[in-house]
Amino acid sequence: MRRTPDQGNDREVLGSLTVGGSVFFLILKRYQETRLTILRRREKRMMCSWARVSRFLRVLVCRAPLCVAMQMSRTSATQRDGPHKDKVAIVTGSSQGIGLAIARRLAEDGAHVVVNSRKKVNVDRAVKELKAENLSVLGVVCNVGKEEDQQRLVTRALEWQGGIDYLISSVAVNPFVGNILDSTAEMWDKIFEVNVKSMFLMAKLSVPHMQKRGGGSIVFISSLTGYNPLPIIGPYAVSKTALFGLTKVLAPTLTPMNIRVNCLAVGLTRTNFGNVILKDEALTDFLMKANNVVRVGEPKDYGGVVSFLCSSDASYITGENIVAAGGAISRL
Ligand SMILES: NC(=O)c1ccc[n+]([C@@H]2O[C@H](COP(=O)([O-])OP(=O)(O)OC[C@H]3O[C@@H](n4cnc5c(N)ncnc54)[C@H](OP(=O)(O)O)[C@@H]3O)[C@@H](O)[C@H]2O)c1
Repeated sequence: MRRTPDQGNDREVLGSLTVGGSVFFLILKRYQETRLTILRRREKRMMCSWARVSRFLRVLVCRAPLCVAMQMSRTSATQRDGPHKDKVAIVTGSSQGIGLAIARRLAEDGAHVVVNSRKKVNVDRAVKELKAENLSVLGVVCNVGKEEDQQRLVTRALEWQGGIDYLISSVAVNPFVGNILDSTAEMWDKIFEVNVKSMFLMAKLSVPHMQKRGGGSIVFISSLTGYNPLPIIGPYAVSKTALFGLTKVLAPTLTPMNIRVNCLAVGLTRTNFGNVILKDEALTDFLMKANNVVRVGEPKDYGGVVSFLCSSDASYITGENIVAAGGAISRL
C-alpha cells in the first residue's frame, strides 16, 4: 500500500507525538518522584525539628523545677535576705560554743561570716556544718593571740568578700583556776594577751575597712564574772572587767566614723569553756542560787542579741555593756 505524503507525515507526527508523549510522561513521572522525595525529606526534617522541640519542652517541664530549686539553693548559700544582707562579719573563736552560735545567727540573718579558731579540724567541722545549712561562711585557721595571724584573718576576709562590716570577738582563755595569789606573771600575760589585747588589735585592724564601708559594728564577748568576779577564776574575771572599759574608751573614739562598739556579758553557758564550772555540780548550784538564775545558758541564747547589736535597729546604741545572763544581778 502506498503511503500518501500526508499519511507519512501523520505517522511521523504521530510517532513524534508518541515519543514526545513518552518523554513528557517520563519527565512528569521524574518530576513527581523528585517532588515526592523533597516532600518526604521536608516532612522528615519537620518531624525531626518537632521531635527536638517536644524533647526540649519535655526536658523543660521535667527539669525546670529542679533548676529553679538548684538556683534557689545557690542563691540562699551566698545571698540570704535579712538585716545583714551583703554584710561581712568576722567572728573570732567561732568553731564551737558561743562564737559558733553567733556566726550561725549572723549568717542566717544574711551576713557572709568568717569562722575562725586555732585548730583546722575544728574550723573544718564548723564550716561543713554551716555550709550544710546553706550559709555563706569562710573558715580561717588562726590564733588571734598572734599579731601576724590577726592580720591574716583580716586579709582573708577582704580577699573573700572585699570588706568588713562587723567584728565579733568571742575568743577567751583561762589557764588558771585557784587562789589568785598562786597565779603567775605568765598566766596574767597569756590571759590579757588573748582576752583583752587581741580584742583591741583586731578592732584596730578592722576599723579602716569598716570606715571604707561607711560604718560598722564591733561586739566584744565578756562575762557576768566581769561584774560579779568569781575569785577562783580571778585573773580571767579581771580581764573580762577590762573589756567593759575597752568598750567605753573605744566607742566615743569610733562614733565619728559611724562605727559602734558594744560589749555582751554572758552568763554561765553550756560549752566546753563553761564546763570548767559546770562539771562541779555543787559550785554550779551555788552560783545559780546566788544569782537567782533558773537555768544554765545555751550558746543560741546570744546569737539574736549580737545580730540585733549589729543591725540598724541598734544604730543609736554604742558604748554599752549589755548583760544576757538569765536575770543575774550585774553591777560593778
Ligand atoms: N561558757 C561560759 O560559761 C561563758 C561564761 C561567760 C563568758 N564566756 C565567754 O564566751 C566566750 C566564748 O566562750 P565559749 O564558752 O563559747 O568557749 P568554747 O566553747 O571553749 O569556744 C571557744 C572557741 O574559741 C576558739 N579559740 C580559743 N582560743 C583561740 C585563739 N587564741 N584564737 C582563735 N580561736 C581560739 C576555740 O577553738 P580552737 O580550740 O580550735 O582554737 C573555740 O572555737 C569567751 O569570751 C568566754 O569568756 C563564756
